[in-house]
Amino acid sequence: MYFDFTLEEINTRNGILDKLLDTAFDAAVIIDENGHFIHCSRGSLELTNLKREEVIGQHYSCIDAKSPFESVLNTGKHQTGVMVVINGRKCMTNLFPIISDGKVIGVIGVVLFRNLNNLKNILANMTKSTESQFKDIYDVLARVDSNYTFNDYIGKSSVVKNMLEECRMASKTLYPVLIIGETGTGKEILASGFHSENMKAVTPFVKINCTAIPDDLLESELFGYEKGAFTGAVAAKKGKFELAAGGTVLLDEIGDMNLRLQSKLLRVLEEKEYERIGGNKLLPLNARIIASTNRNLKELCGQGKFRQDLYYRLNTIEIKVPPLRARKEDIPILVKHFIDKGQLNISFSDESLETLYQYNWPGNVRELRNVVNRLSVNYNNKQVSPDNILRIIEPDLNLYHHNSDSTFPQNKLNQMAIGSSFEAHEKQLIINTLENCSYNISSAAKELKICRSTLYNKIKRYGITLDKAVKVREN
Ligand SMILES: Nc1ncnc2c1ncn2[C@@H]1O[C@H](COP(=O)(O)OP(=O)(O)OP(=O)(O)O)[C@@H](O)[C@H]1O
Ligand SMILES: [Mg+2]
Repeated sequence: MYFDFTLEEINTRNGILDKLLDTAFDAAVIIDENGHFIHCSRGSLELTNLKREEVIGQHYSCIDAKSPFESVLNTGKHQTGVMVVINGRKCMTNLFPIISDGKVIGVIGVVLFRNLNNLKNILANMTKSTESQFKDIYDVLARVDSNYTFNDYIGKSSVVKNMLEECRMASKTLYPVLIIGETGTGKEILASGFHSENMKAVTPFVKINCTAIPDDLLESELFGYEKGAFTGAVAAKKGKFELAAGGTVLLDEIGDMNLRLQSKLLRVLEEKEYERIGGNKLLPLNARIIASTNRNLKELCGQGKFRQDLYYRLNTIEIKVPPLRARKEDIPILVKHFIDKGQLNISFSDESLETLYQYNWPGNVRELRNVVNRLSVNYNNKQVSPDNILRIIEPDLNLYHHNSDSTFPQNKLNQMAIGSSFEAHEKQLIINTLENCSYNISSAAKELKICRSTLYNKIKRYGITLDKAVKVREN
């Protein structure tokens, strides 16, 4: 990934580049080919507590000696997820070379407090306005790989070893891949791993979440459209299949795709060709398709909600990702991984690891990561005790009490109303939380400690509507 700007463009202030850097990133800087700062966004000045005149013209080593600007300048290769401390704050940064006519003419360094998906969401919103000047840049960003390889999938248990072996073998082919597993089990890491494994050059990795996008929009996002294809299509737009040319498309949460679009997708997979909406030119499908889901597709087929023929098309290679409770022996190594990766200052005694071991982890590795991160905030520089852990995990039991095979706080589990199914309980909890959060999905997701798309998924699955939620409140 690199930025394709000319020397003149990077030296032009208050243009699109500056606007993008100012709006899309919490902080951003540009250095020239000699390592001198030529631009710093408002956010970067706030973050460093420096004045613009103190930064511009300075060599990066005077301000941020640890950032790998030099290696990006020398190699022309981007570096992502670089952890640096800026003004005492731990930040994640990405560094991208600016390449013009094949020559590295500078580096853009951006600070991401959140993850790349948040950034993409911001840009996706900006590109919704049809006259947006950010469209092309979003297209570039939409293609950024999450950069995972199979080595990033942490686990030593035999079930993980076997699965990774299967993935490595399968990645040598270009058949579609279906990745099935519960939420937070690392399906996206594996999908990205499939993409990276055979990558000889930088090729696009384009992801689309079939749950988070309304059905009609999903179609135009996938296939793209021609100018005038429908009201509002004032300019042609490339779809994800086109953007992913030469690379990979990840169809995330495929189980939520509607039947009409499933038929269209099946045709694309069979004919290896498709058209933009409103277009009549056949475009070749030149990307590997990976689909992932946490739903039981076989069951959905039985219920007539998922096309069996599409299922058989997609599952030429089927990877079943184990839940964390089926590989608890990996917990210590995962905990160590999250501590190292986040440069966290906490440690776990054998006793506290045992507590982690006894929980059933319905949110899987993502939940474990969140628990470790939360512990590191609350108990920085300390050894975590079992009590510390229980304090964090216990509230979640309200949401996750279906882990009845767990030996973990059984007394808490028994307090749950006997006979009330997990689903009913979860649905009610979601309705209550939505109510408490005035139906703000983001706040509710935060409160429930799940991601927005998971919450959308559940709202859809349980058929929760605002009306229903209001009725429950009235009763
Ligand atoms: N095996 C693993 N090794 C290291 N980290 C992992 C692993 N599995 C999951 N994670 C962590 O959990 C997070 C969530 O993983 P990922 O997004 O791949 O899950 P998912 O299966 O796609 O979940 P969902 O169905 O909710 O989308 C990752 O960002 C990573 O931090
Ligand atoms: Mg996912």
